Amino acid sequence: MIIGELLPLLVAYWPIVLATSAVAYLLNNKFYKGLNKYPGAPLAAYTNWWRFFEVWGQKSEVTHVALHKEHGDIVRLGPNVLSFADPKAIKTIYGLNKGMTKSDFYPVQQAVSKGKRLQSLFSTTWEDYHAKYRRCVNGAFAMSSLVEYEPLVDSTTDVYIERTKELYCGEKKQRCDFTRWLQFYAFDVIGELTWSKRLGYIEKDQDVDGIIEFLNKFLSYAAPIGQMPFLDLILEKNPLKLQLEKWGVNKKVFPVTKFALDRSGERKDEMQKVRETGIVEKRPGRGIDLLTKFNQAQHDHPEFMTDAQVLAASTSMVFAGSETTAISLSSVFYHLVRHPKVYAKLMQELDDAAETGAIQQRDNNKVSWAESQKLPYLDAVIQESFRMHPAAGLILERITPKQGIEICGEHIPGGVIVGCNSWVLHRRPEVFGADVDTFRPERWIEADSLKLKEMKATMFQFGAGARTCIGKNISLLEIYKLVPTFLRTFEIEMACDDWKTRNAWFVRQSEFYTNFKLRSVPREVPSLMFLRKTSGVNKASSSPVETLMASRSIRTAWQLEEMGLDYKVEFSERENGKAPQQFKDDSGDALGKFPLLKDGDLTVGESGAIAEYLCEHYDTSNKLLPKDSATRVKCQRWIHASEATYALHALAILYTRWFGADNPSAAEKIEQGMSVNVCKDMDFLENELAKSGGKFLVGDSVTVADCMMLFSAQFILARQLGVQGKKWEKINQWIKDCENTESYKRAVEKTGHAL
Ligand code: HEM
Repeated sequence: MIIGELLPLLVAYWPIVLATSAVAYLLNNKFYKGLNKYPGAPLAAYTNWWRFFEVWGQKSEVTHVALHKEHGDIVRLGPNVLSFADPKAIKTIYGLNKGMTKSDFYPVQQAVSKGKRLQSLFSTTWEDYHAKYRRCVNGAFAMSSLVEYEPLVDSTTDVYIERTKELYCGEKKQRCDFTRWLQFYAFDVIGELTWSKRLGYIEKDQDVDGIIEFLNKFLSYAAPIGQMPFLDLILEKNPLKLQLEKWGVNKKVFPVTKFALDRSGERKDEMQKVRETGIVEKRPGRGIDLLTKFNQAQHDHPEFMTDAQVLAASTSMVFAGSETTAISLSSVFYHLVRHPKVYAKLMQELDDAAETGAIQQRDNNKVSWAESQKLPYLDAVIQESFRMHPAAGLILERITPKQGIEICGEHIPGGVIVGCNSWVLHRRPEVFGADVDTFRPERWIEADSLKLKEMKATMFQFGAGARTCIGKNISLLEIYKLVPTFLRTFEIEMACDDWKTRNAWFVRQSEFYTNFKLRSVPREVPSLMFLRKTSGVNKASSSPVETLMASRSIRTAWQLEEMGLDYKVEFSERENGKAPQQFKDDSGDALGKFPLLKDGDLTVGESGAIAEYLCEHYDTSNKLLPKDSATRVKCQRWIHASEATYALHALAILYTRWFGADNPSAAEKIEQGMSVNVCKDMDFLENELAKSGGKFLVGDSVTVADCMMLFSAQFILARQLGVQGKKWEKINQWIKDCENTESYKRAVEKTGHAL
């Protein structure tokens, strides 16, 4: 009856009715729960659409900082949303047992499998469920587990450094989109840590299965939709859509979920065993991955951990651990290249540490976690980079408990969304100093212990409390290892004016272009000691460099030149065909043999051993001694054959000529006998050159094999030791090609070598 009377009125006056309802709705929002006393952007109090469009604009971190600057420590971001800037709020909002729960912003980020939401550690809002879940998997993320992950990080780092050399320092040398390249690293490390299998980004230099693109789109969707989560129920997680997926009509699977399912499928039997026995077999040199640990948790907590939980935990590693780590790594490198003095100071710390042995020499300059923890300036640089550019760019939303709660002296009613944004907290001048907008790592070193404690307590890049980042230790492991390793291997130069950033929940950088150059470490250069044998031919020449001299030192000099290493030469003329006593004493070598290589405190003797030493310590790109086993063993054979076979047979003939004059017929017999060997040796060399497939001994570029063998072949042919005028076409051409390389010419010039 009432409806019957009201309806015509509503129809007749609908514009007035509509306007009045809208005003009532907006006013109700404005005064909702008495939150009208908190200032903010004018529209924010009236409607969530303000924050929806604000987040859509992808600059929220800038807006939030500006709003707090203008309005103080509490700012209203929506009818039911308050942002806090006072660091004291952290303990209340995120502290344990405060009755706070994650808001509906998080379930928007839930992955879906077969029409069912995956309640992941990150996205679930059921706090009791979360506590149980976290207890089950916590062990996998403890500091003590880092040892098990370090080999997994190292294996990816090796590939990363090699690929960086190939793509950005090699012949193809190109400008690097560094943020993207660091993303590839972060995604592959997470793949390796979770499933012992990289997702393949680094090797392929591409976004495998479009996972990164998918995540970008997903986050760009989740950030604004998360401001009005009911929209997700209309769009992505529409119940009808989910039902269709359950029935198998719409078989859409998130690409990361697919990757996770495939990996679990591959290791079904192994994981079944872990679930049944709880025992994990340690694989030598390989760490224990997270999938194994989650399956072990299934054995330990069968009442809770289901297959779905294991799947959710594995996929959330990629969601929560890749983009965030890549952003943080980008921030470190960006701030370094933008602040050359800081960059130089950090390099000094790293070089000093390498010099004193605080950082050991390893393949690809890898730095261990333990070593990285003893580098205070590195720590300051990383902390400051976290401060300047934390990954999460929105407030970490929590809902106040029913009875309300006091935050920073204000009673906030129940059911209100509250939170802090790390971008706001990290720019508190009373905590970090008046120069908060400046990147200045020194602040972390100058601070006294009390100040440092306060600064650390205000850092919010990993969140805080019960829902703090579980992967914090893992990400620190990655960052503290990769940063020094990369910096020791490459010089980084900015190749753009500035980067761009956009805040889609995480503040992602783009267009951060850089050039890389292999870094040569400024250190005392090695010194090559050798004797020069003065021959009669050019004896008249006034300059010692122009005097004809043959020495095995040419091998080392050529190798040093090929490797682009600086070095000093120290030589002595022979006196009456012998090494002067003083020179021998100075060398410190008991046998008084040359050449010798002096490198720091080390003295390396024997030309083959010197060649191996140089490859091991300086051939970071494996150019001189290739990595693949077949080529490597060939080169190693040549290193040894040059003296143990070629020089041995040839020298036997030379010594016979020198000392056999009293018994010419015996001398002739020895020479004939040894000639057979020398000719066989040369035939072998000729054949190997024919098979090489390039101009040099094992292909198209000079390797340590050429450096070692050239002198032996030149020596045999120049002195005609057992070769009886025979000719080897390929050997002759190879000698010419070697002698024509710029590196060889420089070595000749520097040592004065000639035969
Ligand atoms: C520098 C890198 C990282 C940053 C800056 C970061 C940041 C964060 C933040 C801010 C949170 C809290 C979110 C909230 O309260 O709303 C969080 C949670 C989480 N993070 Fe990280 N994260 C990083 C690396 C990682 C890694 C490497 C992993 C996995 C291996 C990971 C896994 C997680 C998970 C599972 C959660 C949810 C924890 C829970 O609610 O119990 N994160 N992370």
